[in-house]
Amino acid sequence: MEKIFYPLTQRRLRTDTHIRELTASVKLSHKSFIQPLFVDEAIAEPRPVNGLADVEADTASTVLKTIERSIKGGATKFLLFPVPAEKKESNFNFSFATAVIRSIKKNFGNDVWIASDLCLCSYTTHGHCGILNDDHSKLVNHKTVDVLSTYATQVAVAGADSIAPSDMTDGRITAIRTALDALGYDTVSIMSYSAKFSSQFYGPFRDACHSAPNTNGLKNRKTYQLSPLNSNDAIVSSLRDEKEGADILMVKPAGLYTDIIARLKQQTLKPIAAYHVSGEFAAIEALAEKGLVNREAANLEVWTALTRAGSDIIISYAAKNAKEWIDKMEY
Ligand code: PBG
Repeated sequence: MEKIFYPLTQRRLRTDTHIRELTASVKLSHKSFIQPLFVDEAIAEPRPVNGLADVEADTASTVLKTIERSIKGGATKFLLFPVPAEKKESNFNFSFATAVIRSIKKNFGNDVWIASDLCLCSYTTHGHCGILNDDHSKLVNHKTVDVLSTYATQVAVAGADSIAPSDMTDGRITAIRTALDALGYDTVSIMSYSAKFSSQFYGPFRDACHSAPNTNGLKNRKTYQLSPLNSNDAIVSSLRDEKEGADILMVKPAGLYTDIIARLKQQTLKPIAAYHVSGEFAAIEALAEKGLVNREAANLEVWTALTRAGSDIIISYAAKNAKEWIDKMEY
């Protein structure tokens, strides 16, 4: 019988689990994951977040239990979203956020790493990420930056390990770094939401944080968040934040913007964090609910894609499951 050659076959590397494990170029580790936490001052009991199975907005006391469970599951790094009960236009009070951080640090010390999200959208009556002018037609950059720097120093004093500004105003990284250093908090890092796009996919988050824009003035966040149509702006803004002193750069949403992650990776030696945002996560939940994807495998596939694109850190609502899921991942 004539021998048949398949000289270009690649299937030898796909033959079984052993060879697939050996030749995988992406290796996931739960150590790279950050779990978001919502803590809402206005609730007495944990509240489910619409669209995110398995994620609740916590009270200041139940968040401690959530953290304890996460630690047991192998997740030790958190991104905290404090949601104060009182909404205002200025003169914000950050005492709820600082009290929550103090209590987390008192209970868990250095067993946990806490990045505090720094934004005003859960503080403002109008739901925008900063201070607006009188007729609500504009976000006032310098006033917002001043308030955010004060907020940053207060959460640093309370014990936050990292500050994560998500407001997208100009000059905030320099201002925050300068304010932190002036008080001796030079080892508190800044994880900048450096490439944060104006996106449809923040829906469940805005439900959790009461932070959807709701004024007759500025209707959306397009004057400060990036346009999905402008990839150069994402690179320029990220490199600017790096120059201003950001320690970690972030791309958000992540799953739809892996091209940005890959491009940024070519331009920076700083670690890149990819935030798989609430709407992206909820999309998987919705498919899984209908039996159309395997929830666990779908999240693993997303994490693989983000890592392949070049991200070093993944922020996921399932970070608390990362260890278990990665350990038993089928190659
Ligand atoms: C606040 C903020 C948002 C998210 C993180 N910080 C929402 C927004 O900008 O409207 C979104 C996170 C998510 O959807 O998971 N500025």
